[in-house]
Amino acid sequence: MNIDGGVNDAREEALTAEVVRSFAAADPRLKEILSALVTHLHAFIREVRLTPEEWSAGIDFLAQAGHITDDRRQEFILLSDVLGASMQTVTVNAPPNPAATESTVLGPFFADGSPLAANGEDIARGAPGSPCWVELAIRSESGDPVRGARVEVWGAGDDGLYDVQRSGEVMANRAHFFTGGDGLVRFWGILPSAYPIPDDGPVGRLLAATGRSEMRPAHLHFLVSADGFAPLVTHLFVSGDRYLTTDAVFGVRPSLVVDFQEHGADEEAPGGRTIAGPWYSMNHEFVLVNEDGA
Ligand code: BEZ
Ligand code: FE
Repeated sequence: MNIDGGVNDAREEALTAEVVRSFAAADPRLKEILSALVTHLHAFIREVRLTPEEWSAGIDFLAQAGHITDDRRQEFILLSDVLGASMQTVTVNAPPNPAATESTVLGPFFADGSPLAANGEDIARGAPGSPCWVELAIRSESGDPVRGARVEVWGAGDDGLYDVQRSGEVMANRAHFFTGGDGLVRFWGILPSAYPIPDDGPVGRLLAATGRSEMRPAHLHFLVSADGFAPLVTHLFVSGDRYLTTDAVFGVRPSLVVDFQEHGADEEAPGGRTIAGPWYSMNHEFVLVNEDGA
């Protein structure tokens, strides 16, 4: 706030009040959102005593984000991600039940139309990286297996790219499963690797200007939905990853960091598979809570 007080303080407060009043006729929720947005935005401008040059630099930044955004690249979501706004939205909307598996960001690389896979299948389909056997148990809060859950999985290869970022249309290291009565999902995928978020635009320049890492720690994405349960959007992170404490998008929850075991080529792999090099395995339980969040 203007520590000088007096004339400017009164003008600044009157302006905020006038803008808030301008929303009086809006739908109640829109009015609530816009009034709070303007109140916080004005408070920010007043707190930092924003100069016209700084205001203009901010407008230029947003314009650059608009210019680089297209059907495949969404710089505004990336901006929301690196400012922690995406993760804060996930946090305020998470089921308030501590038994529920924790949620994290969806990210930009979810794609509709993933192939349906059966338990035991290899979903890597040519994505580069070390084979990784994954076993998931989908349970309710009472520990019962959830039948008929749709489990979407997607992950980057060890080139740091998702299938949708590579040329060609092949969906690789991406699939969906439906659980049977045992609530289990098992598949061969790729050991997750750390990768940089797209950093060749204004968001990348913001990270560089603030000395921040553009890296996301190694993770695999999941979207689990089942009738009667709150949908779960989450990741599993690889324990020991060097970027766990500096995730560019603040998506790490300690409860989502799991061990990926390394196995030698001489160890028998699930499904009687013979693998030339080392392979990995991971298992984890997801707990879904009722759709009312209770
Ligand atoms: C991801 O994990 O896929 C992701 C999330 C936020 C920004 C960029 C990538
Ligand atoms: Fe990701």
